[in-house]
Amino acid sequence: MSDSLLRVDDLQVHFLAGKGKLVRAVNGVTFDLKPGETLGLVGESGCGKSTLGRAILKLGPLTAGRVSFDGIDVGTGDHAGIAQLRRETAMIFQDPYNALNPRLSIGSAIEEVLRVHRKVPPERIKARVAELMQLVGLAPALAGRRPSALSGGQCQRAGIARALAVEPKLIIADECVAALDVSIQAQIINLLIELKARMNLALIFIAHDLGVVRRLCDRVAVMYLGRIVEEGATEDVFDAPKHPYTKALMRAIPEIDPDCGLPADPLGGEPPSPLDIPKGCAFHPRCPDVMPICREALPQNRFVGGCAVACHLYEDPTTNSEQERERIHA
Ligand SMILES: Nc1ncnc2c1ncn2[C@@H]1O[C@H](COP(=O)(O)OP(=O)(O)OP(=O)(O)O)[C@@H](O)[C@H]1O
Ligand SMILES: [Mg+2]
Repeated sequence: MSDSLLRVDDLQVHFLAGKGKLVRAVNGVTFDLKPGETLGLVGESGCGKSTLGRAILKLGPLTAGRVSFDGIDVGTGDHAGIAQLRRETAMIFQDPYNALNPRLSIGSAIEEVLRVHRKVPPERIKARVAELMQLVGLAPALAGRRPSALSGGQCQRAGIARALAVEPKLIIADECVAALDVSIQAQIINLLIELKARMNLALIFIAHDLGVVRRLCDRVAVMYLGRIVEEGATEDVFDAPKHPYTKALMRAIPEIDPDCGLPADPLGGEPPSPLDIPKGCAFHPRCPDVMPICREALPQNRFVGGCAVACHLYEDPTTNSEQERERIHA
């Protein structure tokens, strides 16, 4: 699509594990993101969310497939293209302390980005640091402090200010509030909501906490063993989940403490491993709706009720409505 900011096409990221085994951490992911859009990326631990985020920003390996960001081919991009990628994107990490250089004051960390990317003339740098700190709700007087002299919430704000210093078109936030207290989490989420509206930021928000995703994101992509199994508008995915895996995740929400995020194993059955991905639909060993075809063939994406769903239940047009499906599986 020409109006996409980011297009990810059949992306694969494999790692070599011990004994020559292959870890298929990302195993064929396709989606796109428009300017200003917020996509929540959810799924159990180990399903490949962080690996996908890093590959998109060329902060980690990319085995096959294509990522194009604002006209740059991320996989094969030349030096100028990758420099542009660095200028227009940023990543925010889970651990606010580790994400910042412990030897640099937070003011210096933000300054460094402004200098490297020549965002403002040298005489404007100090003033811009103060502006960015104010933007994320940090008193500019804290600029001289090192991360160890700040709280977790203050550090995460400093990390966001540093990310914003490049004036990015896309931020990938990887569990960026998971390590924070609930009240601080809410403050950071409100800050992200405000910033995305003000700056037309596109955001990929990786999270375990479905409540936060529901509040923040326009769209949601549900990942299972390296693939997106369902993707659609947040409201549609939460109110009318289609894939049996998404349904299980959504069913688990009311039973768990909203502050604790996803249960470790909402489904039971065999725990998934990207070292040994089941044939056919990777979810079939745990699926309550499994059919013979699920053990053999990889399901293709179908559009159902505005969502893209990769599930054999929706492949036959005669079963392509909720009622029809319920009748068949009754
Ligand atoms: N450098 C690496 N070498 C080998 N395996 C890796 C490497 N990085 C990630 N993996 C494996 O790839 C799979 C996906 O990992 P990833 O960190 O992307 O998952 P995740 O969805 O972000 O999980 P979490 O929710 O726990 O952060 C895991 O099985 C992980 O062990
Ligand atoms: Mg992760």
